[in-house]
Amino acid sequence: MNFIEEINKLKKEKNAIILTHCYQNIEIDEVSDFVGDSLYLSKMAANTNADIIVFAGVYFMAQSAKLLSPDKKVLLPNLNSGCQMADMIDVENLKHFKEKYPNIPVVCYINSTAEIKANCDICCTSSNAIEVVKSLNAEKVLFVPDNYLGKFIETKLNGVEVITFNGFCPTHLRIRPIDILNARKNYPNALILAHPECHHDVAKLADFVGSTKEIMEYAKKSSNKQFVIATEKGVADRLNRDSKLENWNKEFILIDENIICPSMKMNSLEDIYRTLKEEKFEITIDESVAKKAKECIEKMLLLNIK
Ligand code: 13P
Ligand code: SF4
Repeated sequence: MNFIEEINKLKKEKNAIILTHCYQNIEIDEVSDFVGDSLYLSKMAANTNADIIVFAGVYFMAQSAKLLSPDKKVLLPNLNSGCQMADMIDVENLKHFKEKYPNIPVVCYINSTAEIKANCDICCTSSNAIEVVKSLNAEKVLFVPDNYLGKFIETKLNGVEVITFNGFCPTHLRIRPIDILNARKNYPNALILAHPECHHDVAKLADFVGSTKEIMEYAKKSSNKQFVIATEKGVADRLNRDSKLENWNKEFILIDENIICPSMKMNSLEDIYRTLKEEKFEITIDESVAKKAKECIEKMLLLNIK
């Protein structure tokens, strides 16, 4: 079966769109309406007129799409594709964290469940975290669940204290400082671009630290010809593809072939076809959680950053 043709037919028949995170298997782009980072995809989810959204991403992303488009059917091709970082905090942990540091605004990374969002003041993504924290005009903020993104933005915030929960991304933490030092030796002309979910000792050694979108924009604009990519494989794959298609004449080397998020790679074209055909694996969110979780994301979107 030609899954690309069949998915495109189903999309028309059912007025469906496919939103794809740039860590997904690259062939999924062939059927995608929008491909990008978490911030871009949440904006697209909020603005679509489609009846069905298929989210080629992980659970919290599909949940965010459902929160922003409650009347639409949101399908996730694999309901087991959770984000390991998002699953490191539950409502009970969050409650204790807030009790330990009372009366401080709580910012949650979009990589969190709807239940966590419902109990935080405002959401952010790795693209807008600095601006979101600035918008609070606070001397201190609590940041959940990613310790490394939280501590990274603290270095850019001129004196705002960012008190972080101890969550982390196991995929990004696989990148070690020695990998960066080796890459410098092996590719002396390359610029090294890292995601802020990386360990701070890795981030310190990189030439540029930014969200997936920022890394991709930086790489495209730079006059350099060779780059080492210190984030998930999907980013390097897409940069190499676009470089060939658009004759950038640039090379993107993944820091280590194992920097692959297992949850992000659960989806195949066949899974997307079956999900859309059978309209299965629908995301539902408890009413009691949905209203507050939606407000948490909408506060971020209302800031209209980038
Ligand atoms: P972005 O917010 O940069 O899309 O990253 C999401 C993510 O899960 C990174 O690991
Ligand atoms: Fe979660 Fe890490 Fe995968 Fe991103 S790369 S979805 S933070 S486990």
